[in-house]
Amino acid sequence: SKGAALVTAVAQRLASRRRQVDETLSPFKLSQEQLQLVKTRMRSGLEAGLKSKGPSTIKMLPSFVYRTPDGNEHGKYLALDLGGTNFRALLVNFKKGLQQNSRLYHKIYTIPLEIMQGTGEELFDHIAQCVSDFLDYMGMKNAHLPAGFTFSFPCEQTAIDTGTLVSWTKGFKATDCEGQDVVSMLREAIKRRNEFDLDIVAVVNDTVGTMMSCAYEDPQCEIGLIAGTGTNVCYMEQLKNIEKTQEKTGKMCINTEWGGLGDDGSLDDIITPYDIEVNQNSINPGKQRFEKLTSGMYLGEVVRQVLLDLTRGGLLFRGHVTEALKTPGIFQTKYLSQIESDRLALLQVRSILQQLGLDSTCEDSIIVKEVCGAVSRRAAQLCGAGMAAVVDKIRENRGLDHLNITVGVDGALYKLHPHFSGVLQETARVLAPQCNVTFLPSEEGSGKGAALITAVATQKQE
Ligand code: GLC
Repeated sequence: SKGAALVTAVAQRLASRRRQVDETLSPFKLSQEQLQLVKTRMRSGLEAGLKSKGPSTIKMLPSFVYRTPDGNEHGKYLALDLGGTNFRALLVNFKKGLQQNSRLYHKIYTIPLEIMQGTGEELFDHIAQCVSDFLDYMGMKNAHLPAGFTFSFPCEQTAIDTGTLVSWTKGFKATDCEGQDVVSMLREAIKRRNEFDLDIVAVVNDTVGTMMSCAYEDPQCEIGLIAGTGTNVCYMEQLKNIEKTQEKTGKMCINTEWGGLGDDGSLDDIITPYDIEVNQNSINPGKQRFEKLTSGMYLGEVVRQVLLDLTRGGLLFRGHVTEALKTPGIFQTKYLSQIESDRLALLQVRSILQQLGLDSTCEDSIIVKEVCGAVSRRAAQLCGAGMAAVVDKIRENRGLDHLNITVGVDGALYKLHPHFSGVLQETARVLAPQCNVTFLPSEEGSGKGAALITAVATQKQE
């Protein structure tokens, strides 16, 4: 009958659509062997970066932080935090031996895009202005506080309080900063204002701050992980393994800058055409290839490229490529997190898409959710594979058959996404079976950590 023929036709159309969607998503599904390979490459990258000579895509930057906090830190410290989408100023008051009782005040300032991508002087003047506002707000303009500066970009350090910016990453590209000492730039901006004084004691990567603030609660914490706008890891390494430093006993925290893995093409076998597109449209093509597969700033863009392709192929949104779909940045981490939430009914997924300006059918919303799932799952697996390399290295450093270790974590992807943290942990567990890795989300991580580092650094001089 006519009815039966119609049903068959619809079923065939659905089956063929399904097949094509599966095909599109298949390069995002990584096998155990592929993940194992990523772990191996990450491990070689870590080793190469510790050498003083030879090329390495993983920078392995010394932080001049020699130990985690011991609970004796005390006093008032200012922490300034630049590197995500906002600038934050914090005042932290540590009391000896009273981990829970450290008091914290903070204020968040947005950084306008034109300042992120203007001149270096404008950027640092803006920061100095925010600090001035914060000190007014706290009534501490004349306190001349010791300050820690969390600056979440790769910095070549020669001491705890100097850091030369190697290259901008994420969304920043202010001019005349690369190759400059960012602490001097901040000091000069404060001098230009000529209304308050600060003693900038430390410049700190956000991973290092996160590790320190988690280590304050848990002494087994010797790794810091950020899974947010960008992705990066730091960990405590034995000085004897660090060719670039003079000292040979004890440990130092190394900021790996693992986001650079693959910048020499070593990840090309897992990179999809969608990733290539995202890389080419970014402000730093060819750079931070691992970061572009794994972090909040790029995941939504990968999703968007896949959706564009499916739509052009007539498999989605009735084949209509709308302006919304052509808009870079529409899928922020918070939307991906909402779309992938299991508690959300499809109707709610459709309403989120609607908010983003995308008209979807019920079938469309199923496919969108699948695309988001494939992209974020791959991200979490890749981070897990990287983490497996780091923990196994620490285990071997210590000559252990079994290692218990804690990772301090911060970042919206880790904290807000419904599946990222679970997949990350599971992957690390499978790929590093001799390690028992506990992930500890940090509270006020990087900022509080900078204050702690400042405390640790000033104490040493006492
Ligand atoms: C980028 C930066 C790195 C930072 C990370 C997380 O990868 O290069 O320094 O730690 O983002 O914010």
